[in-house]
Amino acid sequence: MNIVCIGSGYVGSVTGAAFATLGHRTTVIDIDRKKVELINSGKSPIYEPGLDELISSYIGNTLFAVDHYEVVREADVVFIGVGTPSKPDGTADLKYIKLAAQGIGKHLNAERFTVIVNKSTVPVGTADLVSSIIEENSGLIPNEHFAVVSNPEFLREGYALEDVFFPDRIVIGADNERARAMMSALYQGIVQRENYFEKSADFQFDYKLDNKKPDYFETDIKSAEMIKYASNAFLAVKISYINEIARLCEVLGADVTAVSKGMGLDSRIGNKFLQVSSGWSGSCFPKDTAELLATSRKYGCELGVIEAAVQSNLQMHNFVADKIKRRLKSLNGKTIGILGLTFKPNTDDARNTQASVIIREFAEVGARIKVHDPQGMTMFRALNPELDIAYCDDPLEVAEQVDGLVLLTHWQEYADLDWKEMFNKVRTPYLLDTRNFLDHSYLREIGFDAEGLGVGSSKQESRADKTVAV
Ligand SMILES: NC(=O)c1ccc[n+]([C@@H]2O[C@H](COP(=O)([O-])OP(=O)(O)OC[C@H]3O[C@@H](n4cnc5c(N)ncnc54)[C@H](O)[C@@H]3O)[C@@H](O)[C@H]2O)c1
Repeated sequence: MNIVCIGSGYVGSVTGAAFATLGHRTTVIDIDRKKVELINSGKSPIYEPGLDELISSYIGNTLFAVDHYEVVREADVVFIGVGTPSKPDGTADLKYIKLAAQGIGKHLNAERFTVIVNKSTVPVGTADLVSSIIEENSGLIPNEHFAVVSNPEFLREGYALEDVFFPDRIVIGADNERARAMMSALYQGIVQRENYFEKSADFQFDYKLDNKKPDYFETDIKSAEMIKYASNAFLAVKISYINEIARLCEVLGADVTAVSKGMGLDSRIGNKFLQVSSGWSGSCFPKDTAELLATSRKYGCELGVIEAAVQSNLQMHNFVADKIKRRLKSLNGKTIGILGLTFKPNTDDARNTQASVIIREFAEVGARIKVHDPQGMTMFRALNPELDIAYCDDPLEVAEQVDGLVLLTHWQEYADLDWKEMFNKVRTPYLLDTRNFLDHSYLREIGFDAEGLGVGSSKQESRADKTVAV
């Protein structure tokens, strides 16, 4: 098919590269010329493992990038993958969606039937809005010349290619039969893994070929739009829940790592999103929970569980900051080293991360801050220009003469560090591992005063609890 992806960010560039890999002629449109140039030079506009390789293999072959909408004229399916950031009142700002819809409307071809797909995370009812903008700008008739469908994206940054080629589920919300049939035909390649063996060298996930094939779930448009918000909010609630349990574990002397492992063995619960942290953050959960809450309030149907999860999450950011303040006493003039600025490893996405909240708390009480992140420093610096912090190219530089180290993001690089050398650099060997990710026994053995989150005093050693057969 002839595919167009509008937006070449974390969703658009991955979606475009994936359909191009599967043999569809795919053009990515972005108003940001730098991103278009990067793609045309065979490079990914974002840091995402494997994406550079895919783009360089397919650019000029089945993958193209432009900064104008003329290609919409030849498209069978147009994906909208532009950003939907929060407005001050929490609702989603649809200005980029509206501009994309206008661009599509101005270039839609009356001679063919085009499916417009909302892949961006958008509030319930946005498909109707997009449809009316396209109708106004094209003069064409909805359901005769074009139809808008919802196809929310569930990829995880850092694992985006794996998730796009091997999703758990594909959700399609369509009220138009012809559009539904075209989406089904387009996704057959992924559902049936057509040519995957031949292509597996490109996306390097052949070990997943034996896994269960994805569920292809068709529903109405509004339900599909709601599925995305309800899923993200549910995951946010799950993380807030285990973080609250972690805080109670500390008081009562239990170990949250063992508790989440024991809980996760129940298939009704599952072990994902049950890892302790300094709280959820990033470019999706904060804005998506804010939108769902704002909308629920407007319609007199407030979602109390999500409200509580948001409040609990803020408490978790503060809990981490307070833990260090209590431990190191006055932070005035002391230096704190931060490892990790992104909300998760394997991404350069530093939008709305917990690091910005926690660093501000330290700065407010006079601490000096040094930071390192393998990929996220450029974006973090651009988004937080007012923060007076030292950006270090090497974690060893962060450790130099610090009074405390805080690991916020569980990059593998930090597990692989030469911690003996790190120990030799620090002024005070205090280390807080907010992900319970490092080997605390080893760190204590070499002299660090290391602690995690949610580990009560009766169980200082973080040992690997085992499931034994009986
Ligand atoms: N990032 C994720 O992990 C993820 C996962 C699932 C869903 N989503 C959703 O997908 C959407 C996109 O997220 P993202 O992280 O890829 O955003 P992003 O900010 O990384 O990318 C958006 C891109 O769209 C471009 N753009 C904006 N307006 C445009 C226009 N009118 N025409 C052409 N290009 C335009 C921007 O220049 C930018 O490159 C959001 O709604 C987000 O909630 C994101």
